[in-house]
Amino acid sequence: MKKIYITTPIYYVNDNPHIGTAYTTILADVLSRFYNITGTQSFMLTGSDEHGQKVQEAADKREVSPIEHVDEYVLRFTELWSKLNIKYDDFIRTTEKRHQDRVKDMLNNLWEKGEIYQDEYEGSYSVSEERFITAKEIEDGNFKQIIKLKEKNYFFKMSKYQEDLIKHIKETPDFIKPESRKNEVLGFLKNPLNDLCISRPKSRLSWGIELPFDDKYVTYVWFDALLNYITAIGWNVDSEKFNDCWPADYHLVGKDIITTHAVYWPTMLMAAKLPLPKTILAHGWWLFDDSKMSKSTGNIIDPLKLIDLYGEDSLRYYLMRDMALGQDANYNLDKLIKRYNSDLANDFGNLVNRVTVLIKKHYNNMVPEPGDYNENDLKIIAKSKKTIQNVIANFNNLKIHNAIEEVMSLFRDLNKFLEINEPWKLLKQDSDSLIAATTLYISINALYIGTQLLHPVMPKKTLEISNMLGASEINIINEEFDILKPNNAIGEGRSPFPRIEEK
Ligand code: MSP
Repeated sequence: MKKIYITTPIYYVNDNPHIGTAYTTILADVLSRFYNITGTQSFMLTGSDEHGQKVQEAADKREVSPIEHVDEYVLRFTELWSKLNIKYDDFIRTTEKRHQDRVKDMLNNLWEKGEIYQDEYEGSYSVSEERFITAKEIEDGNFKQIIKLKEKNYFFKMSKYQEDLIKHIKETPDFIKPESRKNEVLGFLKNPLNDLCISRPKSRLSWGIELPFDDKYVTYVWFDALLNYITAIGWNVDSEKFNDCWPADYHLVGKDIITTHAVYWPTMLMAAKLPLPKTILAHGWWLFDDSKMSKSTGNIIDPLKLIDLYGEDSLRYYLMRDMALGQDANYNLDKLIKRYNSDLANDFGNLVNRVTVLIKKHYNNMVPEPGDYNENDLKIIAKSKKTIQNVIANFNNLKIHNAIEEVMSLFRDLNKFLEINEPWKLLKQDSDSLIAATTLYISINALYIGTQLLHPVMPKKTLEISNMLGASEINIINEEFDILKPNNAIGEGRSPFPRIEEK
C-alpha cells in the first residue's frame, strides 16, 4: 500500500547540527507522526550528504581521511536525532554501497539514453558553491571564491526539460509550496536553463562516486545527493518497496536549496522517466538577531544544550509553534521560555494537575460517572470535536503552528470551564455532586483528546500525560469523545511541565 513518503534534506557532515537543521528533521517527524495517529502509514527518510568538496575540506582541516571524518561526524547527527526522539524509518548515508551502486545505475542509464554528454566548458566557477555559475548569478553577488575554469566535463541535458518543467509547475498547484517559492522558481526559469555539469575531474576533487563510464571523474555532489530520495527506497532493486513510497509526498527543504530540488531534481527524474514528487515544501530560516543562523557566521544555537536544559519536547514545541511554515523566524531563548511557561506550564500542565488531583482525591483514582449534560457541557464537548477537525485540517494544510494554537485554545477553554464550575468547591460541600462529576468527566476526556492531538509535536510528554490520564497509549484519532470511560483507573505522574524561572 502506498505510504506517505516524507524526506528531509540530507545534511552535510562537515560540522555539527544546529537548530536550523534540527528544525527540518523535527518537522518531518511531526508530519510523519501526525499521519500515523490519523491512521495513515508513513515512511520518513533522513540521512547525510557525505561526498564533495565541503566534506573533503573539513577532513583535510582535521588531517583525517574523508571516510574517517564522515564516520565520526555522522554520529553527531544520529545522536541528536535520537535525543530529539525522531522516529525515522531509514537513514541513508551517501557513502553506503546501496546508494553508490544505484547512483552508478542511474548514471549508466542516462549515459546509455544519450542524456549525458562530454564537453569542454569554460566559465566562472564558484569554489564555495562547487559549481559553474551564470553571468546573472555573478551580478547578483551571492557567490564567493569565483575563479575562471576551463575543463572537460560531463553534462546532463537539463535544458531539454525546461518547457516541460515550467508546464508541470504551472499545472500542479501543490508541486512547489509556498506560492512565493513557486514564483521564485518560475522567475528563475524565465532565463534559459543551462545543461548541468555532473562531473568533477579527480585531479581537482577525488572524494565522490566515480563515474561508471569514466574513471577519471567523480559525480557532482548534488547529482549524487538528490538521488538519495530514490536509492534509499530500493529504486532499481526492490520495486515493491519503491512503489510503496514513490512518488514522495513531501520533500521538506530550506528555502536556500529550492533550485536544486525544484529544477535539477525534477529534470533528472524526467530524464529517467520516473514520476515527480508531489510537493516540494520550502521552509524559511531560523534567524538569530535577524541574520541566518549558519556555520559560516558562527551564530549557531546548539540544540543539545537546549535539550539538556529544557527537554526535547519543549524545544520541539517551540520550533513548531513559533515558525509559520514558509516564513523566517527569529530564535530567542526568552521567547522559548515564555512560550513554555504560558502554554505548557500554565495552560496544559495546570489543566493536567487540576483534573488528576481532583480525581485522585475525590474519586479514588477513577474517572467519575457523569450526569446529564447542560448547555455549557455540550458546548465544550462540541469544541473538543471541532478541535479534532480543525487540527487535522491545519496539519493537512501544513499550518502546524495553527494546529497547535487550536489545541491550546481548547485547553484555555477547559481551564475556564473548570473555573466557572469550581468542582473543587462543590466537592467540599457534597462529595456526590453530579455537576462536579460531570465537569471532571468532560474535562478528562477533552484533555485526553488535546493531548493526543499534540502527540506528533511532543511525543514523550504526551505519552506520559496520557498515562497519567489512564490511557496506556496514543490511539488513532477519531471523533469519538468518550474514550476514558467511567471507572477507568487513572495513572500516576507528577506535574508534567514545571515552571522555568524567567530572567
Ligand atoms: N547537503 C545539502 C542538501 C542535500 S539534499 C539532497 C545541504 N545540506 S546542509 O546541511 O547545508 O543544509 C541542510 C538543510 O538545513 C537545508 O534545507 C537548509 O535550508 C537547512 N538550514 C540550514 N540553516 C538553516 C537555518 N538557519 N534555518 C532553517 N534551516 C536552515 O544543503
